Amino acid sequence: MRDMVKVGLMGLGTVGGGVVELLAKNRVEIAQRAGEGIEIAMALVRDPAKARGLDGAIPRLTTDPEEILADKSIGIVVETMGGEEPALTYIKKALRRGKHVVTANKEVVSAHGQELFEAAMIHRCHLMFEGSVGGGIPIIMPLKRCLAANDIDEVSAVINGTTNYILTEMTAKGKDFAEVLREAQARGYAEADPSADVDGLDAARKLAILASIAFNTRVTPSHVSTEGIRAVSSADPRYAAELGCVIKLVATARQDDGAVRVAVAPVLLPKDHPLAAVNGPDNAVLVRGRPVGRVVFSGPGAGRGATASAVVGDIMEIVRQRTRPDKSQCTCFTTKEVLAGSGRPSPFYVRLRLPDGHGALDRATAAFAARGVSLASASRKSADGSGYEFVLVTRSAAEDAVRAAAAEGASNGAGWAVLNVLRMEDGDGAA
Ligand SMILES: NC(=O)c1ccc[n+]([C@@H]2O[C@H](COP(=O)([O-])OP(=O)(O)OC[C@H]3O[C@@H](n4cnc5c(N)ncnc54)[C@H](OP(=O)(O)O)[C@@H]3O)[C@@H](O)[C@H]2O)c1
Repeated sequence: MRDMVKVGLMGLGTVGGGVVELLAKNRVEIAQRAGEGIEIAMALVRDPAKARGLDGAIPRLTTDPEEILADKSIGIVVETMGGEEPALTYIKKALRRGKHVVTANKEVVSAHGQELFEAAMIHRCHLMFEGSVGGGIPIIMPLKRCLAANDIDEVSAVINGTTNYILTEMTAKGKDFAEVLREAQARGYAEADPSADVDGLDAARKLAILASIAFNTRVTPSHVSTEGIRAVSSADPRYAAELGCVIKLVATARQDDGAVRVAVAPVLLPKDHPLAAVNGPDNAVLVRGRPVGRVVFSGPGAGRGATASAVVGDIMEIVRQRTRPDKSQCTCFTTKEVLAGSGRPSPFYVRLRLPDGHGALDRATAAFAARGVSLASASRKSADGSGYEFVLVTRSAAEDAVRAAAAEGASNGAGWAVLNVLRMEDGDGAA
C-alpha cells in the first residue's frame, strides 16, 4: 500500500465526529476500496477543550484554519462546520490552494455552487457534496452519473427530517403543530430555532441543489417558492386521511415548457404515493425521467453515521480517481467462503394439503414440533371432497427443519402435499 492520504477536517461535531469514527472503524476496507489509506491529519474546532469521545483518533486539533489550508501534505479538506461563513471562505481558500473539498453544507452549496465550481475547475480540484442532500441517501452521484442519460421531467422529495417527523406525529396522534414541535425539540429532532426547517428553507436549499443537477441549470434557494408547515393544523391531517391522503412537506422541481419550476409546500399525497410512506425523520427522493421511468431513493435523511457514510464515500471517490484511473473497477479484494442459502432462522409460511379425516392437522403439528419448529398459527383455507388446504405460520426456525417437517407427511404416506414453503421477512427486511 502507498502512503496515507491526509485529510484536514473542518468541524468535529455530529457529522465530523462520525467521519472520524467511520474512517477508524473501517480503516482496512476503506483503504482497499479506495486504493490508499485515509487519515485525518488535523481537525479545526472552536473549542479544543470540549469532550468529544474521540480520544487519540486525531493527531492534532486547531482553532486556526490556516494550519490546515497552508499544510501542503493535506490534499483533501472536509468541511463539516455548517453555516454560510466562515465555511464558504475556507472552502474557496482550500480550492484555490489546490485542495479537493468534500462538504455536507447545503447552505453553502445551494447559494454559492457556481463560484465554488468555477474555483474547482480553475484549480483542477474535486468539489463533492453527497452529504448535503438526503444525509445517507445516495442521490447526488446517481443523478450526476447513473441517470445522466435521461431527460429528467421531475424530482420531488421529502427532504426535511424535522418537518416530516412533526407531520408524522401530528397525523398519528392528532396533536397540533406547536405541541409536536416542543416534543421534537426536547428529543433533539428539531433545533432550538426551528425556522430553517419548519419554514421550508432547508428543503428549498436541498431542492436547489437537486434541481441544478437534474436540469443542468443553476437553481438557488431564492428561485424556490417556499412555504413551511406552521399553518398545518391538527385538523388537516385528519381531513386529509378522510380523502385517502397524507400531508407531507414536498419539494418539487419540474421541467415545464423548457422552464424549471421549483416549489416547497405542504401537499396532500394519496396514501399509495411513493413519498407518502416516508415517515419520521426519513427522507425520500423520487426522480421521473425518460426512458428510465420512476426511480425512488429513500433512507435516513440525517444523523451521525448516515451522513458520515456519504461524506466518507466522497473522500474515497476522490482518492479512487487518483489511485485507480486506469485499472479495472473490480472490487473483489478478498477471498471469503461463499455459502448457498440464507442460513438465518426466520418465520416461514407453509401451505399444505392435508387429507380428510380426524387428526391430520395434529399429526402435521407434531411433525413440526418433533423438529423443534413451533407454530404461530394454523388456518384452514379451503376444502374439497378429499382434503383441506392449510396455511401454517411457524415461529422463527431453521429453514432445513421447516422443510423437513413439511416434507415428512408427503414422504411417509400420511397423504400430505406440500404446496409451498416461503420465508417471511420482518418489517425492515432484516429477517
Ligand atoms: N447533523 C446531521 O445529521 C447533518 C446531516 C446532513 C448534513 N449536515 C450538515 O453538516 C454540517 C455539520 O453539521 P453538524 O450537525 O455536524 O454540526 P455541529 O454538530 O454543530 O458541528 C459543527 C462543528 O464545526 C465546528 N465549528 C463551527 N463553526 C466553527 C468555526 N467558526 N471555526 C471552527 N470550528 C467551527 C464546531 O466546533 P466545536 O465542536 O468546537 O464547537 C463543531 O465541531 C452542516 O453543514 C449541516 O447542515 C448535518
